[in-house]
Amino acid sequence: MWRERQRLRPPPPLLVAAAALVVVSALASAPEAALQVGFYHETCPIAEDVVLAEMRLILMEDATVAPALLRMHYHDCFVQGCDGSIMLRSRKKGNKTERDALPNRSMRGYDAIERIKARLEAVCPLTVSCADIIAMAARDAVYLSHGPWYDVETGRRDGNLTVAEYVENDLPPPDSNIVDVKTFFSVKSLNSKDIAVLFGCHSIGTSHCGPIQKRLYNFTGSMDQDPSLNPDYAAELKKLCPPPRPGVDDDGGEGKTKVPLDPGSNYTFDLSYYRHVLATGGLFQSDGSLLHDPVTRGYVEKVAKAKSPDEYYADFAAAMVKMGRTDVLVGDLGEIRPTCGIFVD
Ligand code: HEM
Repeated sequence: MWRERQRLRPPPPLLVAAAALVVVSALASAPEAALQVGFYHETCPIAEDVVLAEMRLILMEDATVAPALLRMHYHDCFVQGCDGSIMLRSRKKGNKTERDALPNRSMRGYDAIERIKARLEAVCPLTVSCADIIAMAARDAVYLSHGPWYDVETGRRDGNLTVAEYVENDLPPPDSNIVDVKTFFSVKSLNSKDIAVLFGCHSIGTSHCGPIQKRLYNFTGSMDQDPSLNPDYAAELKKLCPPPRPGVDDDGGEGKTKVPLDPGSNYTFDLSYYRHVLATGGLFQSDGSLLHDPVTRGYVEKVAKAKSPDEYYADFAAAMVKMGRTDVLVGDLGEIRPTCGIFVD
């Protein structure tokens, strides 16, 4: 167990450099450009150190940025691939970008990514992509929330194709059942186990009331509550999130109240999310949907009673690396932008 924990911690910089050198030289003759651990070893050797150092400072100022950046990596990867396009601001003239789409209205952490980007531009201009910064920041967010360390692959380049409508097409909504969830994830080559593993991201962070209003107050359209939600938990949620008032709460549920995704430990990345889902049905219907499929339910039950986090942490690392490969731009494709949120032209 101790050995396993050691493996999941960041290795000393010298070892990273040596390992990266092996990977880089092994891939130097690869016919196609691909993601690799330590992609910036030659072009910006301190890239990962800069990201981690800046993340420490950012989270000291506001610990809630950690879950926001983990979520950002997911939203970036699922829409147009992990290409940093989630960062682009809509231009005055032109289509609305992903950033302005409804599911991203509650997205936070854009300033943190720009802050890291500015630090990197100062030391390695036009070298490190925004997509990679988001992927590294997501890894560091987990690690700095007491979760596992894992080697993040880099070498992504940034995309500038961003369409607001794609966001709702590509991201499953919180009232998804397991069939919907599996459909959305299989399009990204993620299987049932990956789903069960990645949903553990909801071990940290919060939600606005909007995404759970239907589950609490109008589940089937007849002012009812989701019967699969534990009644005591539902009562607690109802205290925090009263019924929306027509004409007053018409902001899509983006009010000030926030509810924890994993009550009691929502700033610690751990296994308690799985115990929470099993005991209560989870915060979102999509969390509870894990219990309605034999593979995902089996996984939830296994992790919920695990004595050590090691196996889950190894699964998590593998699933994050897999998600991080979704439709990436590598080699000569895409671009490196000086500012993540601004189109280059
Ligand atoms: C069916 C899949 C998923 C659905 C429906 C879903 C939905 C949501 C919703 C509605 C929120 C609350 C947003 C708000 O109101 O502020 C949220 C938060 C969050 N999601 Fe997910 N999510 C899914 C999968 C994932 C995955 C795969 C990850 C990570 C890889 C993830 C990471 C997070 C994190 C960390 C937060 C907290 C954000 C914060 O505190 O600012 N989610 N999610």
